[in-house]
Amino acid sequence: MSSNEPQSALPACWTFLSSSEDTTDRLGRVLADVLRPGDVLALVGNLGAGKTRLVQALAAAAGCAPGEVTSPTFILVQEYAGRWPIYHFDTYRLHGCDDFCELGAEEYLTAHGVCCIEWADRVAAALPADHLRVEIDIVGETAREYRFSATGPRGREIVQQLSGAAA
Ligand SMILES: Nc1ncnc2c1ncn2[C@@H]1O[C@H](COP(=O)(O)OP(=O)(O)O)[C@@H](O)[C@H]1O
Ligand SMILES: [Mg+2]
Repeated sequence: MSSNEPQSALPACWTFLSSSEDTTDRLGRVLADVLRPGDVLALVGNLGAGKTRLVQALAAAAGCAPGEVTSPTFILVQEYAGRWPIYHFDTYRLHGCDDFCELGAEEYLTAHGVCCIEWADRVAAALPADHLRVEIDIVGETAREYRFSATGPRGREIVQQLSGAAA
């Protein structure tokens, strides 16, 4: 690709098929190498799809203490200290964007950590315009499809690096 090609020509989507939890851990390592503070992952998928499991994989790869990451359904937001802070939200029990904002979402989103937001569609209007959407489907007992799509220039940069790193 020539250097003067517009950024919008970068791929905006990337799909990773994970055949096992070990493969999801590998995806976590690839993600940890590409993400940087300020990035936002909007995780979308049914119960049991693998949203929390991906955050576990990412947190382990970023040097957070093993076992620290649990489903925050009842806690709503958890913080993990690693290479950068991870702010892990589960918005399942929230009643929309007002509840999300009351949790201090704005502060977390601008606090120079990596934000991982489960059930992100429930708080879509409160997400930053430029984020990385991760849609997850169960495609087998131990198989999960993780589809990454960009909603802005930083998202596209991440997608491009992910597709290059995992090639
Ligand atoms: N390849 C895989 N990647 C991620 N999780 C997997 C995989 N195969 C099986 N699983 C299982 O799927 C479940 C995902 O659960 P979880 O991440 O808590 O879902 P969610 O947060 O989306 O509700 C876990 O029980 C995990 O062991
Ligand atoms: Mg979960």
